[in-house]
Amino acid sequence: MGSILVTGGAGFIGSHTCLSLIEKGYEVIILDSLINSKNEVINRIKKICKANNDLLEKNLKFFKCDLREINKVEKIFSEAINGGNPIKGVIHFAGLKSVGESIKNPILYWDVNLISSINLVRVMDKFDCRNIVFSSSATLYGQSSKELLNEETEIKPINPYGTSKYGIELFLDDVFKSTSEIWSIAKLRYFNPIGAHCSGLIGENPVGIPNNIFPLLLDKTYKKKENLKIFGNDWPTIDGTGVRDYIHVMDLAEAHIKILEHITQTKNKNLNLNIGTGKGTSVLELIKIFEKTNNVKVPFEIVDRRPGDAASVVADNQLLKSTLNWLPKLSLEEMCRDGWNWKIKNPFGY
Ligand code: NAD
Ligand code: UD1
Repeated sequence: MGSILVTGGAGFIGSHTCLSLIEKGYEVIILDSLINSKNEVINRIKKICKANNDLLEKNLKFFKCDLREINKVEKIFSEAINGGNPIKGVIHFAGLKSVGESIKNPILYWDVNLISSINLVRVMDKFDCRNIVFSSSATLYGQSSKELLNEETEIKPINPYGTSKYGIELFLDDVFKSTSEIWSIAKLRYFNPIGAHCSGLIGENPVGIPNNIFPLLLDKTYKKKENLKIFGNDWPTIDGTGVRDYIHVMDLAEAHIKILEHITQTKNKNLNLNIGTGKGTSVLELIKIFEKTNNVKVPFEIVDRRPGDAASVVADNQLLKSTLNWLPKLSLEEMCRDGWNWKIKNPFGY
């Protein structure tokens, strides 16, 4: 059947996707520099496989490697061939993702995100592996005021993280156009992935102080020392707080497998696809559902708006539905339950 290479597979979304791939019987090779993740995640994935009475943990290989080291990447592809299990498809999560850090250090962001992607595609081409699913982001749409964002919404990233993602999308488009007979490409524009695997063994493990709402909400609720700061209650939304499209990370994992299978089977594809639920939730609504689901109190206060924020970012997911005949299933309650379960079992991460 061949194996699937998952770059950044030790990270938040990558680790959940690897687990889902193994559960579906795929042989998975993780390539990760561990710049924003821990080796322990590999043990945890294996532990979940074992707990499920599976011997499938043997289907997981891990290589600590930075994609910018092209010789090492080539070696991973050639070893897979020599081992009788050539890499048939790639899910490319690896990259840096902190908006604030990208504004301070754009050179780093272009270097890591773009050079990694160019190296990867170069090696894939050399080894005749031309199916790739790439982690893009809804951040590409900038501060659009549209109620629902579809794939045709104007691309207007407002920070180097976003422009680097757009740069990679354009690069992949050029590769596709020049060799359209052979490449199959999906660029997935995620909205806001949260939650964790229901075992509580893997979850989001931000290195340093998180910026995103959900890991902050978990942390402040667990530690009970400081308030969660809500960035503004004067937005033109249902209750004045920012609205986002939260999606359970296990739904996102499933989406990757479905898309990889789709582009591999139908060949010659170059898709841009929003991955979201299509439902918006305000910060206050998220807090309310979190409190009710987990029977806890979230300490919070309202502060000024955050620069660069948008009032509402919600996916139009019609293309996802029509392409895969599939939509995310898990509820906000399940996201809150699983995220809290991960936090209380791993208060300080891995
Ligand atoms: P993450 O930081 O948890 O995972 C990324 C992984 O890539 C990390 O394990 C890191 O060590 C690895 N990595 C970074 N640079 C590398 C390199 N040069 N070579 C090899 N490995 C490298 O992030 P995540 O939340 O799992 O996000 C995965 C992808 O999805 C990223 O590309 C991110 O930009 C994108 N994305 C994430 C979100 C989100 O809210 N989490 C939203 C939209 C898009
Ligand atoms: C942010 C990034 C975006 C990136 C995405 C995923 C900005 C401006 N945007 O998007 O580029 O793709 O993360 O990594 O940084 N909020 C609070 N208090 C907090 C944190 C957030 O009230 O401490 C609010 C925000 O104002 C927003 C919502 O919570 O309304 C979600 O914020 P966040 O989790 O940072 O995600 P995005 O803003 O969608």
